[in-house]
Amino acid sequence: MYNQDRTVLISGASRGIGKCIAKQILKDGHNISIGLRDKEKFKKSAFDLKIKSNENILINKYDAKSHLDAKKWVENTYKYFGEINTLIHCAGIFKRTGLNFKEGEEKDIDELWKVNVLGPWMLTRASWKYLCKSKNSRIIMLVSMSGKRSKGKLAGYSATKFALMGLSQTIRNEGWDEGIRVTTISPSWVNTDMASSINSLKKKDMTQPEDIAQIVSKVLELPNSCIPFDIPINCNLES
Ligand SMILES: NC(=O)c1ccc[n+]([C@@H]2O[C@H](COP(=O)([O-])OP(=O)(O)OC[C@H]3O[C@@H](n4cnc5c(N)ncnc54)[C@H](OP(=O)(O)O)[C@@H]3O)[C@@H](O)[C@H]2O)c1
Repeated sequence: MYNQDRTVLISGASRGIGKCIAKQILKDGHNISIGLRDKEKFKKSAFDLKIKSNENILINKYDAKSHLDAKKWVENTYKYFGEINTLIHCAGIFKRTGLNFKEGEEKDIDELWKVNVLGPWMLTRASWKYLCKSKNSRIIMLVSMSGKRSKGKLAGYSATKFALMGLSQTIRNEGWDEGIRVTTISPSWVNTDMASSINSLKKKDMTQPEDIAQIVSKVLELPNSCIPFDIPINCNLES
């Protein structure tokens, strides 16, 4: 088994899956650089109180809709840690925008696209030269089962997750010879704020974000020759 302390950029760590992953990888001994929309709000959270004395954490302003934020976050991180060899893309939004959306809901499609697809794209692009330096980098994308099959009427969300899966495959192709390995994580419902409106399943029966954090922790231990490209996760049978 291969192991190394990594320098990880993680988005979406204020809540949900990203927060659980951030806590876990910190526990594993990696350096982490967190990108947040609201740094002030985060400082008041229990998570921040626990970590604020550590030198292996950097907190940056990051809105996935801002390409400039992505660039600044990457450059600050490189300046602080002297390396970047892992990206974990957890920032994402969910909207119920359907095929026949109402007048005015075009803006929801635009936002889904900017946060769920262009956000990870621009952040990956901004980090690329540093990821290539390491020859042993990792990129983990929180995609979704909605990026593998379309269920129900979630045209907007599903289209962005299929696009993110396509983007991830291309990143894998382009990064392979540089030692960059990509893993997409594709869960169905996970017990976070994003799934709070789901009544068809009890919260305890959904996938728990702490369990996804365990999977990520394990993937970061593995060598270039043993990285799964996609990890589908079901909490209920889809037949
Ligand atoms: N929960 C599920 O059932 C489920 C299933 C499959 C896939 N996923 C995917 O997993 C990822 C994480 O989901 P989650 O369940 O942890 O969601 P969540 O609890 O709703 O958290 C979403 C995270 O994304 C951040 N975010 C949203 N818009 C942003 C923006 N414009 N710029 C920067 N950060 C932004 C949020 O930050 P703020 O606190 O600032 O809002 C928050 O940290 C998403 O990509 C989601 O699509 C989730």
